[in-house]
Amino acid sequence: MSRRVTVSAPANIAFVKYWGARDLERALPHHPSISMTLEVCRSVTTVELREDLARDEVWLAGAEGRLEAPGEAFAARVRRHLEAIRAWTGRKERFRVATRNTFPAAAGLASSASGFAALACAVSLCHPERTRGIWAGASDAPTAGELSVLARLSGSGSAARSVLGGYVEWPAEPGDEAPAAGLAPAAHWDLRCVIALLETGEKAVSSLEGHRRAPTSPHFARRLELVPGRLATVRQAIRDRDLSSLGPVLERDAIELHAIAMTSEPPIFYWRPGTLEVLAAVRDLRRGGIEAYSTMDAGANVHVICPPEDEPRVATALAAVPGVGGLIRDRVGDGPREEEANLLAGGAGR
Ligand code: DP6
Repeated sequence: MSRRVTVSAPANIAFVKYWGARDLERALPHHPSISMTLEVCRSVTTVELREDLARDEVWLAGAEGRLEAPGEAFAARVRRHLEAIRAWTGRKERFRVATRNTFPAAAGLASSASGFAALACAVSLCHPERTRGIWAGASDAPTAGELSVLARLSGSGSAARSVLGGYVEWPAEPGDEAPAAGLAPAAHWDLRCVIALLETGEKAVSSLEGHRRAPTSPHFARRLELVPGRLATVRQAIRDRDLSSLGPVLERDAIELHAIAMTSEPPIFYWRPGTLEVLAAVRDLRRGGIEAYSTMDAGANVHVICPPEDEPRVATALAAVPGVGGLIRDRVGDGPREEEANLLAGGAGR
């Protein structure tokens, strides 16, 4: 039997970040995180369920649809995720997988959240029936909660949030598999995210390593005390569509993540000189009456959150900052969707 599904899943940007894990192996966080799902930055993944394969096949869908062999580390991570999904579901089938991102691969943006969310959703939709655990008794489409757990089995915790649209909270109850859940749909609040691209290529230190080192920072314990109040403010601000309350908190949370990274043992410096230039430009925008706030993941690029009416001025200002190599103009989006495309149709190029 062969069944093929293509899913596109979005990246997300966290307002309260996941940084440091109480169980790194299973990507279980110390505290909840809250994010906004993006629309433009997505991973598109075709998965074909194959009973005749001895090993999963992993491809990158390159230019003009040609299939290219990925780097060994990437292929191994995809295979590990598929293995974890099989172990969880009790199924045996192998898969052919082809994937691509809608944003430049060299943009230095995290693609693992969108990539593993797309993989988890596509694999789930390939299974005509489900057999075990969270799958037991369900004959309809998998729920968002199930998909969230499957995405997280990749080891990318932020992927747990990318299976949902709008504003999403990933809880952290000890001892369970705590799936992410929606706080509000995208239609609730139109926020924009202008991404200033400052670095290209792989980051020097992975998020996984950053999570591992986080507890070695003297500021980590203090962060654990501060986060609950911050989460409450962010939930309320989303409910009220109140950017003046949300903005300062999301900016502080991102700076704190980087303060922890910089004071970890050994320290991690994700910022570039251009990062500071963009942070200053955003403060200047605010002084000029524009509601714009910065956040950064584990990298140098800056995501600037603003209302739709300010987006053009934010984009113009960021494009003029020295060191900014490009912009992506993104916005809150609806989450994963099934697509018509078949990325496996292209044939191997190499
Ligand atoms: C800084 O372990 O999910 O983006 O596997 O690289 O996506 P990747 O990282 P993951 O950690 C995410 C860290 C973060 C903050 C966040 O998205 O919450």
